[in-house]
Amino acid sequence: MQTILVTGGGRGLGLVTAGKLARAGHRVVLVARTRQSAEDAAAQIRAADPSARVEPRSADLSRHSEIRELAAAIVAEVGVIDVLLNIAGVLQTSPTRRVTADGFEETLAVNALAPFLLTALVFPALVRSDSARIVNVSSRLHLPGSRGRPVDFDFDDPQLQHGYNPDRAYKNSKLAVMWLSYELQRRLGPRTITVNAVCPGFVPVTAAASTSGWLRWMMTHVLPHMPFATSIDTATDSLTFMALDPSLDGIGGKFYADRHQIESSAEASDPEEARRFWALASSLTRLDPDWPTASQAPPQTGRG
Ligand SMILES: NC(=O)c1ccc[n+]([C@@H]2O[C@H](COP(=O)([O-])OP(=O)(O)OC[C@H]3O[C@@H](n4cnc5c(N)ncnc54)[C@H](OP(=O)(O)O)[C@@H]3O)[C@@H](O)[C@H]2O)c1
Repeated sequence: MQTILVTGGGRGLGLVTAGKLARAGHRVVLVARTRQSAEDAAAQIRAADPSARVEPRSADLSRHSEIRELAAAIVAEVGVIDVLLNIAGVLQTSPTRRVTADGFEETLAVNALAPFLLTALVFPALVRSDSARIVNVSSRLHLPGSRGRPVDFDFDDPQLQHGYNPDRAYKNSKLAVMWLSYELQRRLGPRTITVNAVCPGFVPVTAAASTSGWLRWMMTHVLPHMPFATSIDTATDSLTFMALDPSLDGIGGKFYADRHQIESSAEASDPEEARRFWALASSLTRLDPDWPTASQAPPQTGRG
């Protein structure tokens, strides 16, 4: 039995993944944006399986103060985390740039800064596991040539104060997730904690929640039947695979889709860019850029 922390557990892929993990007998700490949505999600999982071990927790991941409170409670009360599944994310469709209460562009804040900060703050609980896994949900959309506005991360304007576009914000944030995943694994070295990024596939049914009007109708009724679409079941099987499959023991610093390692973009694999984003993320979240320090890292075991 593993203890698995799942963000985005209130709905969408996070909720279904949390349900599958709990039904498989694992202890799931389910994080949703509000107390009510976390409790509703936990109740839904328990309704399907009364023996499911699911513990609702809440935090608005766009607010660093709430991430800090959540992490402190988890480290104190949950103790050990074997798997951290950073699933929560936003995909805006409005051309209007949204700013969080902390003053950050929302897509970057929720998709990249939040998992970065949460991972750092719950790290003491991951270190207590024999072999912890961190799984960060990215997207193939960070690859060059994907549909819509191209990925275009500008370190002089990381929060898109100029030239905001929701597609660009999303792709940049998922590129940032790649950088953070790879850089954390480089810093951990061949240790017991592994970090991978995953694309769940294009899942129109859950992505529909971010849309409205005709696009929502297409996402709900038409696109799920297209050959390029992924079902919720397949996408969440791929996330549970990342969390638990023994074939991934000791494998980190990789990008997966459909249960297979795939190539990320050349930009994502650039260690200089990754270090640069790590420094930026550390400064925006007020974390020590040298995290994880030697004292936080678990002893070397030759894996990874
Ligand atoms: N669906 C796809 O085609 C697709 C493709 C590639 C990658 N992804 C990624 O997969 C992940 C899950 O996506 P999904 O399809 O399940 O989307 P979804 O149905 O829109 O779910 C997004 C989840 O993130 C949570 N979230 C958003 N902002 C939050 C905040 N400030 N605080 C706390 N929680 C917040 C949402 O909670 P609320 O209910 O409170 O909003 C929801 O649980 C995302 O990272 C997404 O980028 C999805």
